[in-house]
Amino acid sequence: MTLIPYRLVRRSARLLAPLRYLVAHGWLREASVDAVLAFLHPAWRLNRVFACLRARRWVADDMLALTLLPNGNWSGAQAGQHIQAYLEVAGVRLSRSYSLTALNADGSLEIAIKRHPGGRLSNRLLDHLAIGEAIEVGEPFGDLYWPQEVESVLLLAAGSGLTPLLGLLRQALEKGFSAPVELLHYVRDAGQLAFAQELQALQQQYRNLRVRPMLSSRLGRFAPEHVQANSATAVLSCGPSGFVAAVQQWWGDTAATTPLQFESFSSPTLSDEAAHSPLLMRFARAQQEVLGDSASSLLQQAEAAGLRPAHGCRQGICASCTCLLLSGVVRDLRSGALLSEPGQAIRLCVSVPMGDVVVDI
Ligand code: FES
Repeated sequence: MTLIPYRLVRRSARLLAPLRYLVAHGWLREASVDAVLAFLHPAWRLNRVFACLRARRWVADDMLALTLLPNGNWSGAQAGQHIQAYLEVAGVRLSRSYSLTALNADGSLEIAIKRHPGGRLSNRLLDHLAIGEAIEVGEPFGDLYWPQEVESVLLLAAGSGLTPLLGLLRQALEKGFSAPVELLHYVRDAGQLAFAQELQALQQQYRNLRVRPMLSSRLGRFAPEHVQANSATAVLSCGPSGFVAAVQQWWGDTAATTPLQFESFSSPTLSDEAAHSPLLMRFARAQQEVLGDSASSLLQQAEAAGLRPAHGCRQGICASCTCLLLSGVVRDLRSGALLSEPGQAIRLCVSVPMGDVVVDI
């Protein structure tokens, strides 16, 4: 039961300005104010964004869509972006990023959560988050955008890589994008074809949209012969790193003049050649020096050393883990580029050391 209607909570952002002033000048503690607000409504906070669950529906055998209505501190998002979700479970703050599959006119947003074996936050949200309960969400992030002034758009998604592309697709069609759009969604079997009914309905409503379910059990993985794209086709690709790498290889082999937009949903792994030979990692601010290797990211190795660097998505997207490379060489797993300039910003979760390194954490 809540003591204040949520519509008033959502309108209260400006009314709380005097409390923010008192907190900013040290006369009140934000945590104390938040405790009182949360007592009145579970999604009410002074500055932090909480969102109430409005609806849940299964959109695939292993994927649930949640409709969330954020409180008045939410400043909006763009289609194709992601948000970080936070939940405290038994005193441990868990977090994970999810893509926005819809931004609705009433201010609510939709995310889709896929069940992962051992996925502590995802499975908790799937199985236990009830209508009316609130979770904390972070600022939106992500750079995918819907291309304009192109002859056609090709969307290549694998697994849950569909989700940010679906957000972009829905919005583009609603806004009247009329050039041909083709969406290929690769999954292992038909039960994993998320949002299949919605996509069928969109296809019937918008004659310029063609949706092709791609069952890898029958068709194999992504192959160039699956697609037809001319040089004025804009391509967006999202999925596991191996899938995105195959799309990048194909796009690089064509004479395309339009850029390929892509996002990888899992941290790329190093090849077997990745050196396991020891190297020295120095974490400057922590004044710690440990032996490491080139087989895993700096974030994983710093955590294994007992450090707790800030991080979010662990996929190179949100930038929460950005820090400075002070010396040495790291490889950026997203692009394969070697980075060696002292003072350069790197993302710990997608950087592996390629020799002795010093980083500013
Ligand atoms: S944790 Fe999100 S970019 Fe590294």
